[in-house]
Amino acid sequence: MERRIRVAAVCGTRPDAIKMAPVVLALRQHPAFEVRLIATGQHREMLDQVLRLFELTPDADLDIMTPHQTLTEITVRALEGLDRLLREQPVDVVLAQGDTTTTFVAALAAFYHKIPFGHVEAGLRTYNKFQPFPEEINRRLTAPLADFHFAPTERARQNLLQEHIPPERVWVTGNTGIDAVLWVARQPYEPNDPALRRALHHPGRLLLLTTHRRENWGEPMANIARAARQLLERFNDLLLLVPMHRNPRVRETLLAILGDHPRAVLTEPLDYAPFVHAMRHATLILTDSGGVQEEAPAFGKPILVLRETTERPEGVAAGAAILVGTDPERIVAEAVHLLTDPDAYAQMARAVNPYGDGHAAERIRDILLASFE
Ligand code: UD1
Ligand code: UDP
Repeated sequence: MERRIRVAAVCGTRPDAIKMAPVVLALRQHPAFEVRLIATGQHREMLDQVLRLFELTPDADLDIMTPHQTLTEITVRALEGLDRLLREQPVDVVLAQGDTTTTFVAALAAFYHKIPFGHVEAGLRTYNKFQPFPEEINRRLTAPLADFHFAPTERARQNLLQEHIPPERVWVTGNTGIDAVLWVARQPYEPNDPALRRALHHPGRLLLLTTHRRENWGEPMANIARAARQLLERFNDLLLLVPMHRNPRVRETLLAILGDHPRAVLTEPLDYAPFVHAMRHATLILTDSGGVQEEAPAFGKPILVLRETTERPEGVAAGAAILVGTDPERIVAEAVHLLTDPDAYAQMARAVNPYGDGHAAERIRDILLASFE
């Protein structure tokens, strides 16, 4: 190709930015590409703080977020905005990651314009329509719209092949989230976040909790919080750090159950660098996050996954994660086991990270380069 390959990289939420940043940076380092970064603004503060860290400024920002937004609102606003941008400034390929509504809509907008779509983190599945909701369906609907499927693992590739995605359109690249987390871990970091400083100066052990999934809203999340409280009561040396997702539904529940405990530190979402630092400092991580399930094993940190199913079974198979669901008794039992049995803990901490080697973005760049040349 004589002229440069025009790429629109789309992100909207915190994990979109984390997983797309390495791709944008890798493409921008190569003279063959001209990259436009498009933010839907599905998240505002949580997106902006990641983009700042990677020194990325969107070329266009649809700024769609509203408090308590519905799935339909995100879908409609993002689709209208992306449709207009792709009409005004056509590109050769659109890229987006994972399973957020921003991603599904980016694939749909690209399809309506007959522009090839590259799906970063393709092929994750639970095959349960409502778990996680709506992410399982977002990513499944993205697959037939995509032309490049960048699968993070061999298992993800197999899922796509089972769905009759042509094998020559699927590449196992590793997860770009591992590129991002290893990059952040290499940067010098001075903890100036007060919550994190308290966690790092705590003389005992640190328990890190994140929860935000829609299917956990309400009673399941209350059970998670109750389990965390029981653990604090059982182990006097534990400090619980809970960087709370900005969603008001999440905060209400966590604050009501944990807000008054003297060894529970409930904070705003941590910026990505402090959060990575917190993961490295934690003894044990409790999470329903997708990204955290991938990152924790990179630092040898055992995780209890607060979900009934996971599209990331590789971590469980590797011994780095245990799927515990949201039953408080089960959560407490598994956590107590790990916090009291050094051998069980050491075995989990030794597991090898199955999600990538930190070079996924370069592979994606090389695949695109070879395809458009
Ligand atoms: C979204 C993604 C989910 C992903 C998660 C990562 C969809 C449907 N869901 O879920 O897959 O795991 O992001 O965090 O794509 N809010 C703020 N500021 C922010 C971000 C959110 O105030 O920076 C509040 C707003 O009130 C917003 C609400 O959180 O309405 C929910 O945001 P939304 O993107 O709809 O859903 P998430 O639960 O964040
Ligand atoms: N993360 C962060 N600050 C926090 C909590 C999480 O920067 O306070 C990072 C985390 O390291 C991971 C990503 O956000 O890379 C995961 O995002 P989230 O859990 O919101 O979404 P999911 O991965 O479940 O879609």
